[in-house]
Amino acid sequence: MLKIDSLTKSYGEKRAVDDLTLHIEKGEIYGFIGHNGAGKTTTLKSCVGLIGFDSGEIYVDGVSIRKYPIECKKMIAYIPDNPELYDFLSGIKYLDFIAGVYGVGEEKNERIKALSEAFEIADDLASPISSYSHGMKQKLAIISAYLHDPKLIIMDEPFVGLDPKASHTLKVMMREHCDKGGAIFFSTHVLDVAEKLCDKIAIIKEGKLVVAGRTEDVKGDDSLEDVFLELEEKDD
Ligand SMILES: Nc1ncnc2c1ncn2[C@@H]1O[C@H](COP(=O)(O)OP(=O)(O)O)[C@@H](O)[C@H]1O
Ligand SMILES: [Mg+2]
Repeated sequence: MLKIDSLTKSYGEKRAVDDLTLHIEKGEIYGFIGHNGAGKTTTLKSCVGLIGFDSGEIYVDGVSIRKYPIECKKMIAYIPDNPELYDFLSGIKYLDFIAGVYGVGEEKNERIKALSEAFEIADDLASPISSYSHGMKQKLAIISAYLHDPKLIIMDEPFVGLDPKASHTLKVMMREHCDKGGAIFFSTHVLDVAEKLCDKIAIIKEGKLVVAGRTEDVKGDDSLEDVFLELEEKDD
């Protein structure tokens, strides 16, 4: 569903992502872990066509994002780490706008109702987004991502700012999405969530992939936190 092949991206002299190869199959929840500045956001933004990259290739369901960005974007929902929504719109106007962009049909209202109730934000949809907390904006971004039934969901730190109930709802929705044949690639610092939720995990350090594979194999008999901290301390 998502093939990242030898992705390299620099900002000036700084190599943010260095020859990274990672394949995410249908049905997989793939967690992406690394310390601050490791290159997670740069990788995720490259995958959704928000930034260009220096070399390598990225394919979404076999389609090159470099050659066919629009086709790829139609298959993807992206939730950034700090959703910049249109503050002057109300929540419902924003969702209507996104539904229009993606051509969501008559199921729109039903979907908005179900999702906003699941995230306990239905009563706030008439209010302007400028009055929302970070967590409420996060919920709105998640709802908008799920509106158009994407194949691939890419999320940057989705659990930050979510209350426990919303976190639980999101985890259930992530699993359902993958059970239906979708795939999810997301970054997180919440290692115990990653350990329980992810089928596979990749750890990135200074732009380079350090380890990737099935969660059980990556963590072995230790906790993911132990493995992560050990890798972080290792000087190569
Ligand atoms: N727009 C940018 N301009 C210059 N450097 C950047 C930019 N975005 C990220 N970087 C640098 O690239 C590296 C990787 O950043 P990022 O991908 O945001 O890491 P992460 O999401 O893992 O914290 C960091 O050293 C960061 O300072
Ligand atoms: Mg980041």
